[in-house]
Amino acid sequence: MARESSGKRERQERPDADAVPDLTLILSRHSVSPKRLRDPGPDDTQLASMLEAAGAAPDHELLQPWRFVRIPLRARGALAELFERALLARDPQASAQDIERAREKAFRAPELLLAIARLVPEHPDVPARERYVSLGCALMNLLLAAHALGFGAMLTGGKALLWDGFASAFALADGEEPVCFVSIGTPGTARRRARPGAAELLTTWVP
Ligand SMILES: Cc1cc2nc3c(=O)[nH]c(=O)nc-3n(C[C@H](O)[C@H](O)[C@H](O)COP(=O)(O)O)c2cc1C
Repeated sequence: MARESSGKRERQERPDADAVPDLTLILSRHSVSPKRLRDPGPDDTQLASMLEAAGAAPDHELLQPWRFVRIPLRARGALAELFERALLARDPQASAQDIERAREKAFRAPELLLAIARLVPEHPDVPARERYVSLGCALMNLLLAAHALGFGAMLTGGKALLWDGFASAFALADGEEPVCFVSIGTPGTARRRARPGAAELLTTWVP
């Protein structure tokens, strides 16, 4: 009871959410599909800022349970090959059009990163779920930093990431998993989705 009333008093002393620039930044972020990303992508300094923001994510026992691999433009042809092989591995009858569509995804974003979860070395206090959460926080920080710097970005997954050949092409260690791509570039027009309201996101435990 005492806690609830002190919480109320603290809230009254604080500014409205729309008057706080950091919250405005968070609430205005939205994904920009790789198809709608244009040149230029971030320069090295801007990309480093995004990665430093990612590095500010919570990390239980400081295990660094994730990392990113940059896929430069000169490697996009090799990525297209991987997408084609992954498609043919799961659907040997894929049409030429399907193959072309799979390959084309490799070339869309000016900057492309692969996010990798690290589930090793094992730690008794840090289960896999906490490591994925840490990666999710890192990705959110990276997206927000990109947005703050005026870039558009989006996370994408895809079945190719689940194909064994993908992990071996990226020389991932045992216990490492490719989770998603991060596409970054100058934003074109983007569709914004409606956000859930607070009431949809919160319930109160009744023991
Ligand atoms: C790990 C991860 C992978 C995703 N992969 C895809 C994807 O392959 N294709 C897609 O359309 N959206 C994908 N999404 C969702 C988009 O990145 C984006 O969050 C969603 O479209 C909502 O847009 P918003 O970020 O503007 O709210 C993925 C999201 C996450 C967290």
